[in-house]
Amino acid sequence: MEKDHRRTPFYTKLKEYAESHTIAHDVPGHKLGQIPNELLDYVGPRMFRLDANAPRGLDNLNRPTGVIKEASELMADAFKAERAYFLTGGTTMGILAMIMSVCRAKEKIIMPRNVHKSAINGLILSGAIPVFVKPYIDEELGIANHMEFDEVEEAILENPDAKAVFVINPTYFGVASDLKRIVDLAHAHDMLVLVDEAHGSHLPFSPLLPISSMEAGADMSSCSLHKTVGSLTQSSILITQGPGVDHVRLRSTINMIQSTSPSSLLLSSLDIARKTIYFEGPIMIPKLIDMAKVTRDKINMIQGIKAMDDHYFENNKSFDYDETKILIKVSDLGISGFDVYKELFDEHKIQLELAETHLVLAVLSIGTTQGDLDALVEALQKVSDKYYPMQLPALAHKIKYSYPEAYTRPREAYHAPKKYVPLNQAVDEIAAESVMIYPPGIPIVIPGEIISQEILDDLDFYQRSGSVILSDTEGGYIKIIDKEYWDKWSETYEDE
Ligand SMILES: Cc1ncc(COP(=O)(O)O)c(C=O)c1O
Repeated sequence: MEKDHRRTPFYTKLKEYAESHTIAHDVPGHKLGQIPNELLDYVGPRMFRLDANAPRGLDNLNRPTGVIKEASELMADAFKAERAYFLTGGTTMGILAMIMSVCRAKEKIIMPRNVHKSAINGLILSGAIPVFVKPYIDEELGIANHMEFDEVEEAILENPDAKAVFVINPTYFGVASDLKRIVDLAHAHDMLVLVDEAHGSHLPFSPLLPISSMEAGADMSSCSLHKTVGSLTQSSILITQGPGVDHVRLRSTINMIQSTSPSSLLLSSLDIARKTIYFEGPIMIPKLIDMAKVTRDKINMIQGIKAMDDHYFENNKSFDYDETKILIKVSDLGISGFDVYKELFDEHKIQLELAETHLVLAVLSIGTTQGDLDALVEALQKVSDKYYPMQLPALAHKIKYSYPEAYTRPREAYHAPKKYVPLNQAVDEIAAESVMIYPPGIPIVIPGEIISQEILDDLDFYQRSGSVILSDTEGGYIKIIDKEYWDKWSETYEDE
């Protein structure tokens, strides 16, 4: 039977509860807004009335049987999936749940090396062995991007015992791999396909976009509806289809890492975002793509600045490209993406999604207006007017992307005896933590990898460029494996 997507079962019930003025002798302690505070003064009392915990009638996220179940069924239908799980811990949580529910310790999973840190943490928690596929390196833009089919094929053929293939659809920069072909090959080798669709929640809602995970036949995917579809930050979903998914194990993994007090605001925002994108997506996305095209053309008239288009990505071996992202090369001005990112914010009140050495990235959604795009073009013109006449020398440093060699599994490195050394003295040591720049949060080195001089040079460059380096250890130090104790420890360490 066709689903009625005008319905918002969870939100409707929550609103009913908020308006019932039931006396609250449960948590949360703000008693639906009865403790005065500045946030309430700013946003108004309604947000607090909706921030109920788990009153009768609002179902249980751990085992939904009522309005959450109904809302999840509508979500699954909208995303062309069989089942949908609501997540209040972002796609970070979805990725952890996918990897942990599919891989046990020492089982292999094939994935690109430029995965988000949550996938690396999924390896630590599951104990799985990563088989890394080197992503396509775009030399002009200085970024690691999608996976080429041949590389994935080689990894599948060389590792027939792998449990799953993990694919990013699309990458942060909007590029998609040939997902359908990867799925067909992986399934032919009895491997599941898990998809990081953090940046692709809008894909099922327009044929003008790259194919979505479920349409490509993937088994599981996690989508950050908060990133491109309009739900509140941190609200995501995990969607599944097919006989390969063990729902008992998946459910217990999700329940292990999900809060027992999930935010009703986040859940209702998922319910509402699904309704909006279902009806508005097919109408608004084509308009958005047209607006993005016109914006790229305008940017390409500006001296020293270039907006990458589908022809560029076709020439750079990508399978498909999400045109709702605008990737802008700025380094021909002689300044870095980090400089432009900062200048657009400081001088023009424009917040971009991220910067890299050569580029900046704008992420659009159906909430983007023509005025917002015009402001971006205008600001870029001003940046060009300021720097282009100076003809600054080209940026000297070239990111090397020399992916480090693995010495041991991420989980083993995580548990091994450790010590701390200054980052600049860590050459040839084995990392016991991930180090990344944020955004995008893609680790440059992960636990178990050997730290090379190239890696340190890249990190030093990022640091000097003003980007945020994230690791567990602060103050320019890094956690490494203490080799003195390693042999003895690894003899006794058991992990099945
Ligand atoms: C490629 C990729 N995967 C996963 C995530 C995690 O998603 P979330 O922020 O919803 O936890 C991000 C976040 O930026 C990401 O860029």
